[in-house]
Amino acid sequence: MNHDVIIALDFPSALDVYSFLDQFKDEKPFVKIGMELFYAEGPDIVRQIKAREHKIFLDLKLHDIPNTVKSAMRVLSRLDVDMVNLHAAGTMDMMRAALEGLTREDGTRPLLLAVTQLTSTSEERMRKELLISASMPDTVAHYARNAKEAGLDGVVCSPLEAALVKAACGPDFATVTPGIRFVDSAADDQSRVMTPEKARLGGSDYIVVGRPITRAADPVAAYRRCVKEFLG
Ligand code: C5P
Repeated sequence: MNHDVIIALDFPSALDVYSFLDQFKDEKPFVKIGMELFYAEGPDIVRQIKAREHKIFLDLKLHDIPNTVKSAMRVLSRLDVDMVNLHAAGTMDMMRAALEGLTREDGTRPLLLAVTQLTSTSEERMRKELLISASMPDTVAHYARNAKEAGLDGVVCSPLEAALVKAACGPDFATVTPGIRFVDSAADDQSRVMTPEKARLGGSDYIVVGRPITRAADPVAAYRRCVKEFLG
C-alpha cells in the first residue's frame, strides 16, 4: 500500500494554481483537483497539471445511473488521472459500471475510491432526511464493504473512521482522509480534525491537506512538515 500527502488545490483559477505550484522546485506533490477548479477551467487544467508531472486525484464524486457513470469514467480515464471517486450511495451496480468505464484498453486504470457518507452529514440528518436508521459507524462500514465487494480500491473518509474501514475491509483497502491539521494550526471550518502523525497511526493511507499548506506563509515548508509528520 502506498502512502502520500495529497494537496487540495482549492483555488478559483488556473493562474492561482500555477503560481502556487511554481513554488515547488524540488518535489512534485500529489494534488487534488475538485469541482470548483474543474468546472471553472475544464479538463485542460488536468492535462496542464499532468504535464507538470504531478499525480492527480480528481475529486468529482460521481453519482448517477450506472450507464452514465460508466461513460463519464471512460472520459476521465483518458485524462490519465491517478485517482477518481464516486458516491457509494449510487449502488454497487453503479460502482461496477464505473470500474468498467475506467479500465483502459491495456487493462490499467486510475484508483477508484468511494465516498461513504460525507463528513458534513450528521447521524441526525442521515436519520431524519435520508431515512437511514443505522448508526454512522455502521453505515460507513457497510458502504465501505459494498465498495470493496464491487471491486473498488478504497474510500474517502474521516481520519476518525479509517480504523473502522480497515477493520471492515482489511489492510489493503485504501483510506484517503481529509480533515488534517497541524497541532498548532487553525481548524477553519473542519469540525473533526487530526494531525498527520495521528492520521497515519489511525490507518490513513493518503491524507488530503488544503489550507494548512495552501495558506501557509511558506507552503513548501508546510508541505515538507506534513510529509515528515505523516511518513515519519
Ligand atoms: O483546507 P482543508 O484541508 O480543510 O481541505 C480539505 C479538502 O478535502 C477540501 O478540498 C475539501 O473539499 C475536501 N473534503 C473534506 N471533507 C470531506 C471530503 C472532502 O474536507 N469529507
